[in-house]
Amino acid sequence: MPLITWGPMLAVGVAEIDEQHKKLVELVNQLNDAMHAGHGKDALTPVLNELVRYTVYHFGTEERLMAKHRYEASVAHKGEHTKFVATVSDFKKKFDAGNAMISTEIMNFLRDWLSKHILQTDKKFAKALNGLGVK
Ligand SMILES: [Fe+2]
Ligand SMILES: [Fe+2]
Repeated sequence: MPLITWGPMLAVGVAEIDEQHKKLVELVNQLNDAMHAGHGKDALTPVLNELVRYTVYHFGTEERLMAKHRYEASVAHKGEHTKFVATVSDFKKKFDAGNAMISTEIMNFLRDWLSKHILQTDKKFAKALNGLGVK
């Protein structure tokens, strides 16, 4: 069963962002499935790496759009991205060193952060973009 189900609820109404969110949801579900399948560190590492890499790439896309359209709430929005990347990078360091495992707690944190950020912060940003004619 997927940890996060993609649906209209999560759509923000800007095509490029929605496509990337779908991919992020897919990657989180992939990591969750791999964990539940009992896969070890060697199998989980590439999945976690891809999730971190794609997250950074996705934040870059949003931040580029913020700069391009002079989004007024960009500082707070970017701050949420920066904090999340720091938390995840910190976890990844521990995981790579063999001092942390992918757990239900970690997966729930990823699910909750992603859902909340999309529903609140990204939706607000997308609405501003829609107001400028960006869809
Ligand atoms: Fe986003
Ligand atoms: Fe965002």
